[in-house]
Amino acid sequence: MSDAGVRLERRGAIALVTLDRPERMNALSRAVVARFGELGREIAAQDDVRLVIVTGAGDKAFCAGADLKERAGMTEDEVRALLLAYESELGWLESISVPTIAAINGVALGGGLELALLCDLRIAAHHALLGLPETSLGVIPGAGGTQRLPRLLGEARAKELILRAARLSASEALILGLVNQVMPKTDEFVLEVMNWAEPILSGAPIAIRAALQAMRGAATRDLREGLALERAAYEKCLASEDRLEALAAFSEKRKPLFKGR
Ligand code: COA
Repeated sequence: MSDAGVRLERRGAIALVTLDRPERMNALSRAVVARFGELGREIAAQDDVRLVIVTGAGDKAFCAGADLKERAGMTEDEVRALLLAYESELGWLESISVPTIAAINGVALGGGLELALLCDLRIAAHHALLGLPETSLGVIPGAGGTQRLPRLLGEARAKELILRAARLSASEALILGLVNQVMPKTDEFVLEVMNWAEPILSGAPIAIRAALQAMRGAATRDLREGLALERAAYEKCLASEDRLEALAAFSEKRKPLFKGR
């Protein structure tokens, strides 16, 4: 286990963030949330990062949500402060300019699933268990679950899952669109996720960021504003060397060599 319960490794252009408290199912203690925020700021400052993957140590849990043992000793004000910290320290997953993927290597419950919902994409190992069981614990999702789940799945499904405190298998989550892909449980799960993400890394970096910016903006805009955002994002590609390289590569019948310029 790392000291602060979260570790950051670079694998080429990928920043791999691992929640590392397997003895507590990688639960989100206050220290973990704070460290996660520090690492996010570190990653955002690294210009050569092109993809972020978040996962959990071991093969049992991605993250079992709030650290319920720590929570038992917290005052109401401390809980309120932690709810604010969820937004300030985990939110970078939604604002960083590159795609983020949750590699859900096991249980993703409560805040664990909410953390995965902050990511652009979710890949689950076959044995993963996903859900927002907070109402069965006398609270509600407090790290964005009531807002992001309806946006992702639609209101009816989100209400069903949250009000029934349902726990879904990976294949059930796939059918609902809660995860993008299910992969077999292997020691190489994160490597498999990296392979799956390879087209993102071989895409034109400016175009990947522009597409992401336009799509992330869709949730909070009406169609007309969204189309204006798309045009603004397209402008960034129009001025890029990589666009001209792609056109040249097409006519020369070769693969483009993107430089991110
Ligand atoms: N916070 C703190 N510790 C947790 C935890 C959490 N959210 N989830 C699991 N743990 C700890 C357990 O207390 C146990 O430690 P212990 O043996 O020292 O008591 C260890 O992790 C293993 O958990 P255990 O329950 O024995 O494993 P399991 O495989 O039978 O079940 C879970 C795993 C995750 C399904 C089960 O622990 C669980 O339901 N946890 C609560 C998840 C939850 O409701 N999260 C939402 C919070 S809002």
